[in-house]
Parts: sequence; structure tokens; C-alpha cells
Amino acid sequence: MTSRTQVLGRDGALPEGADKRRAVEEMFDRVAPGYDRMNRIISLGQDRRWRRRAVSALALAPGARVLDVACGTGDLCDDLAAAGHTAIGLDFSAGMLRQAHTAAPLVRGDALHLPTPGGAFDGVITGFALRNFVDLGAVLDACARALRPGGRFVALDAAVPANPVLRAGNTLWFRGAVPLLGRVLSRDVEAYRYLPKSTAYLPGPSELVAALEAAGFTAVDRTTFMGGSVQLLSGTRS
Ligand SMILES: C[S@@+](CC[C@H](N)C(=O)[O-])C[C@H]1O[C@@H](n2cnc3c(N)ncnc32)[C@H](O)[C@@H]1O
Repeated sequence: MTSRTQVLGRDGALPEGADKRRAVEEMFDRVAPGYDRMNRIISLGQDRRWRRRAVSALALAPGARVLDVACGTGDLCDDLAAAGHTAIGLDFSAGMLRQAHTAAPLVRGDALHLPTPGGAFDGVITGFALRNFVDLGAVLDACARALRPGGRFVALDAAVPANPVLRAGNTLWFRGAVPLLGRVLSRDVEAYRYLPKSTAYLPGPSELVAALEAAGFTAVDRTTFMGGSVQLLSGTRS
């Protein structure tokens, strides 16, 4: 019998470094079969619309080659294909890749070590994954290297609303309802306690913009929607 890595520490602490990498990979392997359904429920049916918005933010002409980093089950790959792009997905969770429903080619690999020649892509996109990376700066560097000069980077992720009332509602939903739904629907209560908590890994808005700039992106933009619960970051490879 293989032992299961706990995602959260005894005191509910978030893991770091190699522990985080192992815990995140194993957690996504476990939740993969119910991942799409839980996504639709947690986002109140809005996640598909957010991904289409992320694809538009690439602002690339149809036919662009786009790498979907941490592609999961391939929703963004499908949206990229629908926009006329050539998508390739990459993820380190074999379980998520097994559940993928996209026709795009998928590669198992780590975002930290993208297996691609430099400048090979017109666009790099990543959805709901920034907070899962062990070293965000290194992943942003890897994404920048994968892009041709002038190529576009877009990241979609959760955010914490700045407005206190909306923040309270967000906390109630993500810290209260989501773990409960996770317990009932996915039977993996720990994963759905981890996922809302993991927004704590994300740097604040200005630090995130600075991290993109440090990776060599210009014209960096950050917008939010859903009352500030979702953020979209974009930049152009210099
Ligand atoms: C919340 S899911 C998002 C999946 C998909 N992008 C979406 O929009 O639904 C996060 C994904 O990031 C992947 N992931 C996390 N860290 C990774 C890494 N270092 N390299 C590759 N994939 C990673 C996980 O396996 C998981 O599939």
C-alpha cells in the first residue's frame, strides 16, 4: 500500500518546497476524476467564461502556437483551439492528464523545466496554477524563455477581493461552503480545504505585476472580475 502525502500540516499549515511539489501533484492525481465538475460548482458555472476571457487577453491572431502550462484536464486547450490557435498542454499530474478531454497534444512535465526550445511559442497561458508552483519566479522565467520576442503571456487565477464586504462573502464561500461541497461531492475534504487556503501563496497585486516585469514581460496588465475573486495577468515578452 502506498502512503498518502498530507497536503496540509497538522496545524493546517501550507507545505513548502519539495513537500509542496509532492503534495500538489498527488492531490491533483486524487481529485482529477471529479475536477471538472467541482470547478463548475465552485465557480458557480463561470469558469468557462473566465478561461475564454483569458484566451482573448492573449490578443494573438488565429493560428498562433500557444503552450498551456499546468493544463489540467485541458479546458484552456479547448478554448485555444476554438479561437483558432494551435495548443499544446503541459502538466505534471498524470491523473489530470488521464482525465483530459482535449484533442490538443499533452505533455507530462514540470512547469519549472519546460521541455521546449527557447522562443518556440507565440503565447503561453496558465489557468489557476500560479499558487501551486513551488517557485513562481522560476516558472515565470521559464514561460518567458518559451516565448518568441513579442509573444504574449496570460495567467488566470483566484484573487482576494479588495472590498471588505466582497472579501467576507468570498471567505464564506471558499472557506465554508467549498470544503463542505468537497466533502460531499469529491470525498476529498483535505483537497478542498487546501485549494481555497492556497491563495495565501499568491503574492499581492503589485508584487505579482513586479514578478512578471522581473521575468522580462512589458506592458504588464492586471484586471480582476467576479468582484475581485478572479484575476487576469498579462504581459508581452520583450
Ligand atoms: C487548479 S488546476 C488548473 C488546471 C487547468 N489549468 C484549469 O484551468 O482548470 C492546477 C494544475 O496545475 C498543475 N501543476 C501544479 N504545479 C505544476 C508544475 N510545477 N508543473 C506542471 N503542472 C503543475 C496541477 O497538476 C493541476 O493540474
